[in-house]
Amino acid sequence: SSSSHTHPNHTVTSCIASERSALLGFKAGLSDPAYLLSSWKGDECCKWKGVHCSTRNSHVVKLDLQGHGCDLNSDAWTQVLGGNISSSLLGLRHLQYLDLSCNGFYGVQVPEFLGSLHKLRYIDLSSLSFIGRIPPQLGNLSNLQYLNLNSEYFNTTYSMDITWLSQLTSLVHLDLSGTNLTTIVHWLPVVNMLPSLKVLHLINCNLRTSSASLQLSNLTFLETLDLSANGFHTHIARNWFWDLTSLKYLYISSNGFYGQLPDEIGNMTSIVKLDLSSNNLFGMIPSNLKNICSLEEFFVHETNINGSITKFFQRLPSCSWNKLTYLSLASSNLTGRLPTKLEPLNNLIYLDISRNKLIGPMPLWIGELTKLTYLDLGYNSLDGFIHEGHLSGLESLEWLWLSDNSLTLTVNSTWVPPSSLTNIELRSCLLGPKFPPWLRWLTSLDNLDISNTSISDKLVFLDLAHNHFVGTLPTWIREKLPQLAFLRLRSNMFCGHIPEELTKLVRLQYLDLAYNNITGSIPKSIVNCKGMIATRDNYDDGGDASHRAFGFNDEWEHGPNELVTYTENFTVVTKGQERLYTGEVIYMVNLDLSCNNIIGDIPKDISALVKLKSLNLSWNIFSGKIPENIGALAQVESLDLSHNRLSGEIPASLSALTSLSRLNLSYNNLTGEVPSGDQLRTLEDPEYIYVGNPGLCGPPLSHKCPQPEPIPSTPKHHGDLNDVASFFIAMGSGYVMGIWVVFCTFLFKRKWTVYWYSVCDSLYDRVYVQVVLTWASWTREKD
Ligand SMILES: *[C@@H]1O[C@H](CO)[C@@H](O)[C@H](O)[C@H]1NC(C)=O
Ligand SMILES: *[C@@H]1O[C@H](CO)[C@@H](O)[C@H](O)[C@H]1NC(C)=O
Ligand SMILES: *[C@@H]1O[C@H](CO)[C@@H](O)[C@H](O)[C@H]1NC(C)=O
Ligand SMILES: *[C@@H]1O[C@H](CO)[C@@H](O)[C@H](O)[C@H]1NC(C)=O
Ligand SMILES: *[C@@H]1O[C@H](CO)[C@@H](O)[C@H](O)[C@H]1NC(C)=O
Ligand SMILES: *[C@@H]1O[C@H](CO)[C@@H](O)[C@H](O)[C@H]1NC(C)=O
Ligand SMILES: *[C@@H]1O[C@H](CO)[C@@H](O)[C@H](O)[C@H]1NC(C)=O
Ligand SMILES: *[C@@H]1O[C@H](CO)[C@@H](O)[C@H](O)[C@H]1NC(C)=O
Ligand SMILES: *[C@@H]1O[C@H](CO)[C@@H](O)[C@H](O)[C@H]1NC(C)=O
Ligand SMILES: *[C@@H]1O[C@H](CO)[C@@H](O)[C@H](O)[C@H]1NC(C)=O
Ligand SMILES: *[C@@H]1O[C@H](CO)[C@@H](O)[C@H](O)[C@H]1NC(C)=O
Ligand SMILES: *[C@@H]1O[C@H](CO)[C@@H](O)[C@H](O)[C@H]1NC(C)=O
Repeated sequence: SSSSHTHPNHTVTSCIASERSALLGFKAGLSDPAYLLSSWKGDECCKWKGVHCSTRNSHVVKLDLQGHGCDLNSDAWTQVLGGNISSSLLGLRHLQYLDLSCNGFYGVQVPEFLGSLHKLRYIDLSSLSFIGRIPPQLGNLSNLQYLNLNSEYFNTTYSMDITWLSQLTSLVHLDLSGTNLTTIVHWLPVVNMLPSLKVLHLINCNLRTSSASLQLSNLTFLETLDLSANGFHTHIARNWFWDLTSLKYLYISSNGFYGQLPDEIGNMTSIVKLDLSSNNLFGMIPSNLKNICSLEEFFVHETNINGSITKFFQRLPSCSWNKLTYLSLASSNLTGRLPTKLEPLNNLIYLDISRNKLIGPMPLWIGELTKLTYLDLGYNSLDGFIHEGHLSGLESLEWLWLSDNSLTLTVNSTWVPPSSLTNIELRSCLLGPKFPPWLRWLTSLDNLDISNTSISDKLVFLDLAHNHFVGTLPTWIREKLPQLAFLRLRSNMFCGHIPEELTKLVRLQYLDLAYNNITGSIPKSIVNCKGMIATRDNYDDGGDASHRAFGFNDEWEHGPNELVTYTENFTVVTKGQERLYTGEVIYMVNLDLSCNNIIGDIPKDISALVKLKSLNLSWNIFSGKIPENIGALAQVESLDLSHNRLSGEIPASLSALTSLSRLNLSYNNLTGEVPSGDQLRTLEDPEYIYVGNPGLCGPPLSHKCPQPEPIPSTPKHHGDLNDVASFFIAMGSGYVMGIWVVFCTFLFKRKWTVYWYSVCDSLYDRVYVQVVLTWASWTREKD
């Protein structure tokens, strides 16, 4: 064809026109919201995504359109094809390989016509939520070597007659997981007709019959047998699969098998992965298990082993200890103490001995498992101390679950935990009385449960920024952490509204919720909160005009003053820049809600938060006007309202902000004249401050105002303190104003944070507050 001549490589195959039409017909039946098939245009169908042609005769031989629906990544499942599987595929008569797995063909049946594509060797239609009957026509595909119709998570397909399978004598890999085969009694003789079979997955197929033995077995090549989650309810010892002593992978969990763990296991001398869990089995593992030197993964959880853990480890084949990666012994009635010495389990990745009856201390060898990512010893009766030596070698640890033991964590204050940790549950262990400083070092926590750990410190400070927390903002904080002054949840994936409970925290001084997915509007109660802080000037100079205007109550006057002497250098994020501040933390006051999806007006009383030094509401969806009395925020140094939908004029009171050094109102819909004022004139980058508001005019902008109109009600050129005070008085004094003093982003270089904790520890020993921080249970409530 002419198109191939234009191409430098003359061996490039060109597309056969009828097959191109077949592909386009197939595409026409699909829905493709993510444009995965955008390359499917033009003549050269052999170059289309997922299409492979024979270099010999140009026929389409392979169609590989696996979707992303099986990825755990949350957006990935939208990267899928759906719709119908058109019979125009029949035009691809030379097709050998078809992979449509992990797409979204909801409610579609496995197409019967596939049985006519006689050259097919490979079919992967797994994870597709197909429904209905598996077509017996597939039995005509005598070349088929690989058939994967796994729908184990959907369980919406069925077959009432599988004799067609016995014709597929070339089959090497068969996966019918999730297919309802409940009516089929004699499934095993059918499978036994497949002498090439290496892999057989029949997970969750509603199979109920098994067979005691398999005489003259054809299944001599079988390596993988997965019969998990059926319902055999037979005695474990008399089962056909024990004859397949060359099996490498045997999974028979959740089948209602009963009886003692059989000696037959010991004859499976090639076994690599063995899952016997969640049946009704009992007894110690058999002594002939020592013959199994290839064992890598061993799952016997929910087995009533009812013996000592020491004996269990003795019977674990020592010749395979350096191969073991997974060991799952949860809920197995194991008793006694963990052995104090053990051959090294150098490659162990996963160790779960939770929910047994173990007593005594956690042995030091656990701390030497450098590859361990998952450790669960929860729900035992372990006691004693855990110190650095138990944990420091766990370089790869992601999950540490020790809940509901009587363990005492005595790591010293300088200890740094493995940075890989993402899940920690230490419920009811002894951690206190001080809040464990090492938690500061963890930056990717998904789950943290340190409830009932006898912490009687005051967290005052909670910094969980830059983690992966999801769900709505915690409402329990007020109840559980009533003394919280600093709350930093920046850069997580929180969604939903800002709960009113947060605004009721009596000491909240610092709130940073930036870079989440928070929606709704700012609760009005934000200005009623009693979040006041005794900054030095409250006491020393008798309060400024705004304090007097509202009159602090007694509670306030007798409020805590522990912070007053604290002085430290710290870095602050303002306008995206990290700045080092030298001075007292208590003067830093900040509210940062930037980069969320918050809607509605900026509450007009936000100006009550007179201690704010930095207010960042940028990159939200705020609309309406900038509150007239914004100028009452007399201490604001940085004000960022950019990238919202604010409209109307810039309030003249803005020029009263004498402390202002950074202002950003860009990318809104503000109109009218830019207020003049001494302070505003001193600001740098005047163009940048107002850019993206085409309706603004007047200096410093080059755009002249058409008709400067005087605004009688709000005279310009405010600037002195009396005017500021008048704003407050105008707001009335009917309620006790809570200055919501929010400490500025003294942001937390890790080094500094740790220092901060130790300072808190020494300062706050008068009042004790129970600390219960149960992120796990909170997220579960959400579900
Ligand atoms: C042409 O393509 C074939 C197959 O992709 C490749 O092996 C060969 O090196 C290419 N020849 C040239 C000249 O690029
Ligand atoms: C396939 O096999 C069935 C019987 O299993 C038969 O009825 C049918 O005609 C065969 N051919 C095709 C193209 O389906
Ligand atoms: C399996 O099929 C049987 C009858 O064919 C039906 O009674 C049963 O509910 C099905 N099971 C599932 C899990 O769909
Ligand atoms: C073994 O497989 C062959 C080919 O499918 C079949 O003819 C034979 O009956 C099978 N043997 C048994 C014991 O099932
Ligand atoms: C284990 O295999 C040997 C030899 O094949 C056999 O004699 C013995 O009966 C088998 N034991 C069990 C428990 O199946
Ligand atoms: C543990 O063993 C005891 C007998 O010692 C038995 O009563 C109990 O049911 C067993 N628990 C489990 C979970 O198997
Ligand atoms: C569990 O072990 C105890 C003591 O060894 C024994 O008395 C009891 O019968 C065992 N229970 C089972 C279910 O094996
Ligand atoms: C804390 O533990 C480390 C080892 O992790 C040790 O080097 C240091 O001396 C300990 N400090 C104190 C005060 O015990
Ligand atoms: C709290 O932990 C103690 C042991 O430290 C335990 O006895 C108690 O039952 C636990 N309380 C709760 C509610 O879990
Ligand atoms: C943000 O929240 C909205 C509504 O709750 C949701 O539809 C959206 O997917 C979320 N976005 C992200 C990135 O999580
Ligand atoms: C704080 O910064 C100043 C100026 O950089 C420096 O002189 C002082 O030593 C610092 N104080 C502390 C405690 O680091
Ligand atoms: C800007 O505000 C004016 C009213 O002041 C309104 O008519 C217009 O729709 C707004 N534009 C946008 C993009 O919101």
